[in-house]
Amino acid sequence: MASYDVIIIGSGPGGYVSAIRCAQLGLKTACVEGRKTLGGTCLNVGCIPSKALLHASHQLHEAEHNFAEMGLKGKSPSVDWKQMLSYKDKVIAQNTQGIEFLFKKNKVDWLKGWGSIPEAGKVKVGDDVHEAKHIIVATGSEASALPGIEIDEKVVVTSTGALELGKIPKRMVVIGAGVIGLELGSVYSRLGTEVEVVEFLDGITPGMDAEIARTFQKLLTKQGLSFTLGAAVQSVEANKNKAKVTYKLRKDDSEHTVDADVVLVATGRKPYTDGLGLEALGVDMTDRGQIKTDGHYATNVKGIYAIGDAISGPMLAHKAEDEGMAAAEGIAGQHPHVNYGVIPGVIYTHPEVANVGETEETLKEQGRAYKVGKFSFMGNGRAKANFAADGFVKILADKDTDRILGAHIIGPMAGDLIHEICVAMEFGAAAEDLARTCHAHPTYSEAVREAALACGDGAIHS
Ligand code: FAD
Ligand code: NAI
Repeated sequence: MASYDVIIIGSGPGGYVSAIRCAQLGLKTACVEGRKTLGGTCLNVGCIPSKALLHASHQLHEAEHNFAEMGLKGKSPSVDWKQMLSYKDKVIAQNTQGIEFLFKKNKVDWLKGWGSIPEAGKVKVGDDVHEAKHIIVATGSEASALPGIEIDEKVVVTSTGALELGKIPKRMVVIGAGVIGLELGSVYSRLGTEVEVVEFLDGITPGMDAEIARTFQKLLTKQGLSFTLGAAVQSVEANKNKAKVTYKLRKDDSEHTVDADVVLVATGRKPYTDGLGLEALGVDMTDRGQIKTDGHYATNVKGIYAIGDAISGPMLAHKAEDEGMAAAEGIAGQHPHVNYGVIPGVIYTHPEVANVGETEETLKEQGRAYKVGKFSFMGNGRAKANFAADGFVKILADKDTDRILGAHIIGPMAGDLIHEICVAMEFGAAAEDLARTCHAHPTYSEAVREAALACGDGAIHS
């Protein structure tokens, strides 16, 4: 039995970042992980593998659609799926081994196995019971199943199965037009799969600025994905290598059936806290299975904290990381703060979609007076040169004070561009502050500046 200042259960972006921060702050730290490799959902079966496949399939799309126009002639590359998967696995390994290296460097002990908390101050891993003054639960999330639909991870899959299909399917039905459905739907669509997305609501990507969501749907449709909206899935019947999806259209209750080689169920994720023993400890949970925490990530049981996908808030790696750092700093006696108003969200399709802060819809709900500055990538020289002129930047600013309240970008490198607006918001900047900041030419970031200019006397290139 070993004794620690902090034991963290789970080594995803929340857990591993928290462990490193604890160690940096002089706390004797261990991290429990039951998987064979560190890094959690994100590095093993989430952010990283999906981005590797998005990158590879985008390269193919570029070769097929834009190379000839630039004078790069010849046959488009053919797809070696096995090799693409092994590239993806190599990327995963590089990243997960990187965390192992960081643990060694920072003297964080990796306690291998599944952990539980037999009582406050103790963590059990296998037959060993370790003592810890503080325990941080960072056990993440799992795909939430649809009632009556059996996942076999071969024909009816979650994102995990979709990241390692035996072959590229001819037809795929994606249930849920959220982030996972659209990212992985895009991957397979680019690789030649006919992809139909079936969504319960009347629009895609709920919660996203509605104007951006409409543009996004149009662009994805142009790329070959098809959408059936307002459809309540009734059942998925699968045999060895085919499936039948039956849904009812909500508008007229008519029933329809579609066939697929693979069905991807991407209807959200739920916190994973199985086997920890939280109920016996009396840890308060929400009715959605999230661990309840206060502003310092403490649960109602002294010495037990929780962060990341296992608690409330957006299920994003960077949100988990920020909470992991803040929990560590709080335990070490500092006074950290996570600004939940400035957490960006990014969808890594092509074009990318990124957002931060309020949408027009939330501002209207709040009855706030706002102005909109918009700029199309059509007016951006770099974007035109790079076949990336689809999309626009939209900045929402307070009508009276000009303070930036939110921003939405659909376009090239949107996921990187959003961060200058995040920093501006963190500093309480006005749109004019961005507009008066010199931006290098020719860069995509000029479109952000132009949108900020459009909040004032007008953009130059529109
Ligand atoms: P997790 O990453 O889920 O890690 C929890 C870890 O705890 C797991 O490794 C698990 O094995 C371990 N664990 C659980 N219980 C125990 C136990 N009792 N004992 C020991 N170990 C335990 N987010 C983004 O921000 N950007 C993206 O691009 C992105 N892409 C995604 C793509 C996909 C396909 C998926 C599924 C998710 C994606 N996400 C993305 C979401 C992101 O992965 C999560 O928000 C993030 O991983 C949450 O981090 P976490 O540390 O809370 O938990
Ligand atoms: P999601 O919440 O993004 O989307 C789920 C979609 O499924 C919604 O549009 C919802 O209306 C729909 N839906 C729910 N039930 C349905 C039903 N019965 N029939 C048809 N449609 C139904 O969830 P998703 O895509 O599974 O992703 C889970 C989490 O993973 C998200 O919270 C996201 O934050 C995270 N993630 C983040 C990524 C990123 O940051 N780029 C990438 C992938 C995942």
